[in-house]
Amino acid sequence: MTEEKEQVPHYDVYWQEEPYYYPSPGFVGQANCSDPDIFDRFTLDKFPECFREFADLLHWDKYWHTTFDSSDAPSWKWFVGGKLNACYNCVDRHLAQYRNKTAIHFVPESETARIEHITYQELYRRVNELAAVLRDDIGLKAGDRVTLHLPMTPELPITMLACARLGVIHSEVFAGFSGRACGDRIWDSESAVLITMDSYYFNGERLDHKIKADEAVETAIKQGQRVNKVLIWRRHPGTYSSPTPWVEGRDFFLDEMVRKRKGQLIEPVSMPAEEILFLMYTSGSTGRPKGCQHSIGGYLSYVAWMSRHVQDIHPEDVYWCMADIGWITGHSFIVYGPLALAASTVIFEGVSTYPDAGRPWRVAEELGVNIFHTSPIAIRALRKAGADEPEKYNYQFKHMTTVGEPIEPEVWRWYYHVVGKGRAVVVDTWWQTENGGVLCSTIPGIAPMKPGSTGPGVPGIHPVIFDDAGNEISPEDGKAGNICIRNPWPGSFQTIWKNREGYVKTYYERYCKNPESTDWRDWPYMTGDAALMAPDGYVRILGRIEDVIEVAGHRLGTNEIESGALNVSEVAEAAVVAVIDDDNKGYVPHLYISLRPGVAPSAALEDKISEAIVDGVGEIARPARIILVPDMPKTRSGKLMRRVLASISNYHDVGDVTTLDNPAIVETIRKQVQD
Ligand code: WT7
Repeated sequence: MTEEKEQVPHYDVYWQEEPYYYPSPGFVGQANCSDPDIFDRFTLDKFPECFREFADLLHWDKYWHTTFDSSDAPSWKWFVGGKLNACYNCVDRHLAQYRNKTAIHFVPESETARIEHITYQELYRRVNELAAVLRDDIGLKAGDRVTLHLPMTPELPITMLACARLGVIHSEVFAGFSGRACGDRIWDSESAVLITMDSYYFNGERLDHKIKADEAVETAIKQGQRVNKVLIWRRHPGTYSSPTPWVEGRDFFLDEMVRKRKGQLIEPVSMPAEEILFLMYTSGSTGRPKGCQHSIGGYLSYVAWMSRHVQDIHPEDVYWCMADIGWITGHSFIVYGPLALAASTVIFEGVSTYPDAGRPWRVAEELGVNIFHTSPIAIRALRKAGADEPEKYNYQFKHMTTVGEPIEPEVWRWYYHVVGKGRAVVVDTWWQTENGGVLCSTIPGIAPMKPGSTGPGVPGIHPVIFDDAGNEISPEDGKAGNICIRNPWPGSFQTIWKNREGYVKTYYERYCKNPESTDWRDWPYMTGDAALMAPDGYVRILGRIEDVIEVAGHRLGTNEIESGALNVSEVAEAAVVAVIDDDNKGYVPHLYISLRPGVAPSAALEDKISEAIVDGVGEIARPARIILVPDMPKTRSGKLMRRVLASISNYHDVGDVTTLDNPAIVETIRKQVQD
C-alpha cells in the first residue's frame, strides 16, 4: 500500500475548467488597481524591496533600515528598525480628514434595536478611555498578553485597538467557543487578564456569556495559569444581565471603569515593527490549537495593501465582512485592514439566516453596503434557505469576496448572478490563519474571474506546486500536488507562540532544501492544501491534503467530487469521504448530501447525483453509497467535518465532537448510517 502511494506522487484531477467572467468597465474604472503591469513590480528578483510599497501605506514614527532579515530563518523579520503603532494607524491618523465619518456600523441582532454608527472621533474617544483603564487601573504594559472572549459588538474592535495602542498583545477567542477552549488559550498565551461580556444575542436568544469566563479561569488555573482580573463589558451598559454570580476582587465592569476615565487621552506606544500585535489560535481540526504569532508592521502593512488592492476598499466605501472577528478573516478584513484605510466597516452581531434569509440583504440595503465579504458555507446556507431573497432588496454591491473553503462553481454562479445581480466582481481569496492576508486571488480590476478557482498568486506571492518527492509540477502537466509559496511575505506569522519546533516542522520541514540555510530560497512555505495550477496561473484548491481520498490508486480532491454533486439543483451541501472496502482492500467514496428545503429524498434523486459526479469527474468517483442527511457536521468556523463523516462510514470512534457547531447531528447521522 505504502509502496503504491510512492508511485503516485500527485493527485488526479478530472474536472473541467470553467469559462472566464469579466469585470464590468464601471468597476474597472473606479478600481484602486487597474494597472496590469503591477506584477512586474513584484517579480521574484525584486524580493524583498517590492514590499516597501506595502509599508508605505502606513504611518511610521521611525522609518525602518532593513526591509527583510532572514538571519533567524524561517522566522522572518520585516521592516526592522521601524517603529509604529497599529491603533494610531487605524484611528488617530484619520481624524484630520475623516473625524465625522462612520468607522463602525454596529448592527445588533434584533431588527428592532437601533443600528449604532460610530464615527472615527467617537472610536478615538472610546479606545483612549479603555486604554486608560487597561494601563492605569489594570497595569497592563507592552508585551503583556490579554485574552479576549468577546462576541460581535463594537467593544471587540475597541478592545483590540486599545491593546494595540499600549503594545499589549491581544488573543481573541471566538465567543462561540466554550469556556474550556478559552481557558486552554489563556493558559497557552499566559494571560493574567480576561476580557469578556456578560451576554449577547444569537439566533434570537440572549446567551449568558459570563458563565464561560468562570469556566475559562478555572481551566487556566488547573493548568497553572492564574487569571487575576476578569473585565466584563455589559451588553447593555449599566445593566448586568447574566445569572452567573460575581467574584469579588476578580470581576470588574468595564463599562463602569471607562466612564471614570471620560475624556482621558493615552499616547500611543511607539512599537518596534517586529513586536507582536496579536495571537490567533487556529481552528485546529486535529491536535492542540496553535497560537499564530502576528507582527505589528508586517501584518498591518500586508492587510492594508490587500484591503486596498484585493478588496478594493476606498475610504468612501461601506464594507461588510460577515465573518466573525474571532477568526483571522475578521481581524484582517473587519478590523485592521478596513480601518487602516479609513473605510466604514460593518459589525453584525447576528446569524445570517435569522430571522430569515433576507436579513443580510436588508442590512445591505439600509446601510448602503457596496462591498460584501463572506464564506461558501454562508453562501450555501443563504441559497438553501432563500435563493430568491436577494432580488427583493434594493442594494448594489460593486465587489464581493468568498473565503474559507473552495466554492463549487454552481454556488459561485448563484453568488455572482443572484447576490451580485450580475454586476459585482467576485474575488475568491485563498489563504490561512497563518498567512495574515490573501495568498491567491484575482486582482479584480485587472483579471477575469473563473468560478471554482481562486486566482493566481497576488502580487508578491509566488505559489509553486510540488509533488511528494519535491519536484515542481508545471501548470502544463494538468496535475495537482502540494501547494507551497516560494517566498516569505510581510503578513506571514512569525512562529507558533512558544513552539518554534512545531512551526518549522509543520510548515517548512518537508520541502526545506537545507535546514542550516538562512537563504529564504531554501525555505518554501508549505500550506498543507492540495491544488492544481492551470496554464493561466489560476490555482484550484482541492482541499486539505489530509482530506484527499484515494480510490483505486487515484488520489482525488474532495472538492471536485462535491462540486459535481452541487450541479444537481436539489443539493444544498455535499461531503465525500473515503471508506475502506474490505473486498478489494482499497477505498471507495461515500457521499453525504443535504438537500434544499422542501426537496424529498428519493432513489431517483440519488441516481441523478451519482450521474452528475460521473459526468464531471468520471466513473472512478462514482459514490459507493449516497447518504441523504438533514444537516452536515460543521466546525464553528463553518468548515465541513469530513473527518467525522469518515469515522462514521468506517465505523471508527468519532472522537470529541463537542466543539462542533451542531454536535447533535453526529449521532443522528451515525444512527442513519450504522443502524
Ligand atoms: C484553510 C485555512 C483564510 C481565512 C479563513 C480560513 C481553506 C481558505 C479558501 C479558498 C479554497 C480555502 C484552505 C486553507 N481555504 N480559503 N478561497 N478556496 N480553500 O482560515 O481556518 O486557517 O483555514 O481554509 O484549505 O488551508 P483557516
